[in-house]
Amino acid sequence: MAKIKVGLIGIGNCASALVQGVYYCRNMEAYAGLKYPVLGGFRPEDIEFVCAFDVVRGKVGRDLSEAIFAPPNNAPKFAEVPRLGVSVLKGPVMDGLNEYARRIVSVDESSEVDVAEKLRESGAEMVINLLPGGAQKASLWYAEEVLKAGCALINATPTIIASDASWDRRFREAGLPIVGDDLMDQVGATFVHKVLLDSLSRRGVLISETYQLDVGGGTESADIERVWGPKRIIKTRAVESALPYKAQVVAGSTDFVEFLGNRRDSYIWVSGTYFGGARFEIEMRLNTLDSPNAVPILLDVIRAVKIALERGDAGHILPISAYAFKHPIKILPLSEAERLFEEYIKG
Ligand SMILES: NC(=O)c1ccc[n+]([C@@H]2O[C@H](COP(=O)([O-])OP(=O)(O)OC[C@H]3O[C@@H](n4cnc5c(N)ncnc54)[C@H](O)[C@@H]3O)[C@@H](O)[C@H]2O)c1
Repeated sequence: MAKIKVGLIGIGNCASALVQGVYYCRNMEAYAGLKYPVLGGFRPEDIEFVCAFDVVRGKVGRDLSEAIFAPPNNAPKFAEVPRLGVSVLKGPVMDGLNEYARRIVSVDESSEVDVAEKLRESGAEMVINLLPGGAQKASLWYAEEVLKAGCALINATPTIIASDASWDRRFREAGLPIVGDDLMDQVGATFVHKVLLDSLSRRGVLISETYQLDVGGGTESADIERVWGPKRIIKTRAVESALPYKAQVVAGSTDFVEFLGNRRDSYIWVSGTYFGGARFEIEMRLNTLDSPNAVPILLDVIRAVKIALERGDAGHILPISAYAFKHPIKILPLSEAERLFEEYIKG
């Protein structure tokens, strides 16, 4: 079986967990956390990381296997990663580092590489954008480089790219797949919130108000101004879509609690009425580790995008985006998105 050659932009916590995840899956017991041990004939171990970009001193110039554990990354170590022979290359900083990140890291002094050329040389078939959520300009700039290099794009960030009609058209014209935006975690607050609302409304319950609050200790959570405005719109839309009627929904308010490290606390509150107009309230707290939460979904997306490449499908691939992301070009009910994804991967 051919390897799936993947490039990574942003070697932060999510990239750390993803690279480790591929090696973790070599242990058969690890398959307990995966919905699709084999997808389109591919196993997670068939994924090969061939190119990586960052800007921070301590990551740039180091082998990817070491850079994933360099500060300020605080993702847990759950797998041994052998030396990969892939040196992290320096891209342009642009708006990549928020105020908090600039206080705790320094920008590497080496010169910037030609990103499109390095992607071409590496043989990457697809590239995952794992830049900080606030790095909107940088995300759009890298998307241009990915297109120039002739690779598929997986946008895990909340910057609107894959769900934008003009990027959809440009990738379609180039014969390349594009999926996104804003990855939906395996056991994330958005997913759990949607499941709860969907189940209640399908039993005839009338939900009138609901909200979701989040606190985390990653650099992303520190970027309240730049990330959480756009993210609140994305998360609110995603949660609203779980109800077949209008309710007051707010999701995505957040705060930064540094000592939580890579852990995240999400509080979900739901209020409404059931039979006879009786009122009820639900309060839930979800405590998770952020970075491994993205991995199983990313492993599915990478293998599904490989299928898209093999079939010559291009532009926004809705069955992948609706299943794995909070903001696809069209938000579908969870069960319909899962069914569409299954049909797509089975062909
Ligand atoms: N569970 C999850 O981790 C999860 C879920 C959904 C979405 N996401 C999204 O994935 C993205 C990555 O999340 P994370 O937790 O790994 O963030 P992070 O802050 O830990 O990592 C971001 C990395 O990008 C690097 N970077 C900054 N500017 C750069 C530039 N111009 N060029 C190259 N590299 C640059 C930083 O140095 C850092 O290594 C975010 O946009 C987040 O919203 C993550």
